[in-house]
Amino acid sequence: MTARIIDGKQIAQSSIAQVKASTERLVADTGIRPGLAVVLVGEDPASQVYVASKGRMAKECGFHSVQHTLPMTTTQEDLTALVQQLNADPEIHGILVQLPLPGDVLSERETIAAIAPEKDVDGLHDINIGRLAAGRTEDAFVPCTPKGCMVLIDTVHPEGIAGLNALVVGRSNLVGRPIAALLQHANATVTVAHSRTRDLPGLCANADIVIAAIGRPEFIKGDWIKPGATVIDVGINRIPAPEKGEGKTRLVGDVEFAAASERAGAITPVPGGVGPMTIAMLMANTLKAAELSAKRL
Ligand SMILES: NC(=O)c1ccc[n+]([C@@H]2O[C@H](COP(=O)([O-])OP(=O)(O)OC[C@H]3O[C@@H](n4cnc5c(N)ncnc54)[C@H](OP(=O)(O)O)[C@@H]3O)[C@@H](O)[C@H]2O)c1
Repeated sequence: MTARIIDGKQIAQSSIAQVKASTERLVADTGIRPGLAVVLVGEDPASQVYVASKGRMAKECGFHSVQHTLPMTTTQEDLTALVQQLNADPEIHGILVQLPLPGDVLSERETIAAIAPEKDVDGLHDINIGRLAAGRTEDAFVPCTPKGCMVLIDTVHPEGIAGLNALVVGRSNLVGRPIAALLQHANATVTVAHSRTRDLPGLCANADIVIAAIGRPEFIKGDWIKPGATVIDVGINRIPAPEKGEGKTRLVGDVEFAAASERAGAITPVPGGVGPMTIAMLMANTLKAAELSAKRL
């Protein structure tokens, strides 16, 4: 069997097209334009790239988009004050503080806790984590990468995943845990594996859906995959690629892609699978925040 390759780029584009269309409708019906504020502290080059692309995408969706760039010397009081100012700004529906925060003075916990839960489009506030855990997905903001994984799974299983065995490898708050909650909400039978798990190959052999969120290059071997399974590879790992020239690198996922493609029914590539979905889901969450705020008016 050769797996269908799940084209995350194309699926993300169609999610963005839906967000654009819904934004036009929201503006026409209510006069409310979704507003996204992205806060960047410091000058980390990777964070700068992420923040710039979020701003560009927000504009493309027809959002009101603002970026606040704060210096490395920013205090917790300054950062919290900015978040509170954005909480009170009626033109802003989504607030994203780019993580990780630099240095050791600023607290991610304290900063996220300061964001109004209804503007927490990254889905990291305890209130949103609690709503997701309780299965209240209609008013919870779900972290963008897990939400994107579910959209990809939907394209493979439009009839739903009720009763399927889903294995999530990884239990981080950002990825593994929320994905497990979403899969359970969709009535899959969910197993969560982690670094202390015994017999991962045995668990994979029984899994109709495997989500790999580990952060170790090609850790999940192709011959562990159940024939016909759906494989969603969240991992992004940079490894040396001497075949491309000296000092060159390439990205691989947490799954041994070539071998897994021989057994899986459908699989995401890295890059081009889960990655593009994350930013698309940030736009979807910001639209949702604006729509919920319109209902409250
Ligand atoms: N595509 C995207 O947009 C996107 C977004 C976010 C993250 N990522 C990528 O996804 C990967 C995971 O990210 P993360 O933030 O969830 O990482 P993380 O916080 O480091 O969590 C990794 C998880 O993998 C588990 N793990 C480590 N070694 C293992 C092993 N030998 N067997 C089974 N489980 C093991 C850990 O278990 P313990 O809990 O026991 O330590 C932990 O739960 C990374 O490659 C990251 O770059 C991609």
